[in-house]
Amino acid sequence: MNTLHVEIPGRRYPIFIGTGLLDQPSLLEPYIKGKQVLVVSNETVAPFYIERLQSQLGQYEVHRIILADGEQYKNIDTLNTIFDALLETPCDRDVTLIALGGGVVGDITGFAAACYQRGVAYIQVPTTLLAQVDSSVGGKTAVNHRLGKNMIGAFYQPRCVIADTGALSTLADRELGAGLAEVIKYGLIRDIEFFEWLEEHLDQILRRDNDALVYAIERSCQNKADIVSQDEHEAGIRAILNLGHTFGHAIETGMGYGVWLHGEAVAVGMVMAADLSRRSGWLSESKFRRVETLIHRAGLPTTAPSEMTEPRFLDLMAVDKKVHAGQLRLILLQDIGKAVISDDFDQTLLKQTLNRVSG
Ligand code: NAD
Ligand code: GLY
Repeated sequence: MNTLHVEIPGRRYPIFIGTGLLDQPSLLEPYIKGKQVLVVSNETVAPFYIERLQSQLGQYEVHRIILADGEQYKNIDTLNTIFDALLETPCDRDVTLIALGGGVVGDITGFAAACYQRGVAYIQVPTTLLAQVDSSVGGKTAVNHRLGKNMIGAFYQPRCVIADTGALSTLADRELGAGLAEVIKYGLIRDIEFFEWLEEHLDQILRRDNDALVYAIERSCQNKADIVSQDEHEAGIRAILNLGHTFGHAIETGMGYGVWLHGEAVAVGMVMAADLSRRSGWLSESKFRRVETLIHRAGLPTTAPSEMTEPRFLDLMAVDKKVHAGQLRLILLQDIGKAVISDDFDQTLLKQTLNRVSG
């Protein structure tokens, strides 16, 4: 097992990464606050893992809530069912919520923890690659609104993150690919060596070689922890973690939540960001091709669906958390491994990127 830390003002919390961690009761105990625990999972993940998790919690009063599975359920109505469970039990302010699942369960559980009685403890037990490398770390919690992705939420940090890589054995290939989009993101925004390592080792990851997976998860979490430790509330540098997300969120919202996976939409968004960077003269043609090729090799899409016309993109991108005073900001690439936050891009070039079909 490897342990990394997120260091934020006034507190520090661990990310445990390894195989078989779901069976280690001593890991969870120090992070559970009172006597009551509410495990939040979904109908797909719970049958695989909830009993194993719950068997580590013998000395606690454990309750569970099983949510419907899917991005389309990441909304206020589902959030309310968690509040119902907490109040009907009833759970006091010392309750600890445990999110057992992918990014949807993690984001919604974190937001429930942030709101219930103005804030209770929670632990992230991520079970998708995407959640293990990204969403479980850093305290962004949210639900979607029909007009915008993750628009209702809070920054609220977990007490710890327990990433059992063994849980990935049951994950569908398409979901593994979606997680790889966020892994590639770290290479693109700030870690050229990792990008080059991914170019060399991608096939091992796709074959689910455990050593390659563990290395990719650790390196991703280290990158994320470094950034979050510098800028917990996204006053500046943390925004680079959103490479491709303005385009990607528009695709997710525009196509209907759950039609495109988050990681797939982000993959296209990263190619679009690289494309705009190329058109702006920052990224060479050969480097753009390296970005596009790695994303394609990961089994991810590299062009937006035809339904996403330029006006549709522009409408949806106007509802983005990086819009300030009506001005859209994008994360672009000055190089592979060097992202910048920019509102200084040419609108004509942006429109060319929005209309790019391929090539
Ligand atoms: P997800 O939570 O929908 O999980 C993907 C699918 O895999 C689901 O069907 C789920 O039930 C299933 N699943 C989960 N674990 C499994 C396992 N071990 N075995 C078999 N099936 C399993 O999607 P995701 O890709 O994990 O997360 C996407 C969400 O994360 C989006 O809502 C996105 O906005 C959010 N996100 C948040 C942050 C953040 O910083 N908070 C960062 C990135 C993404
Ligand atoms: N996924 C973006 C962030 O955590 O900031």
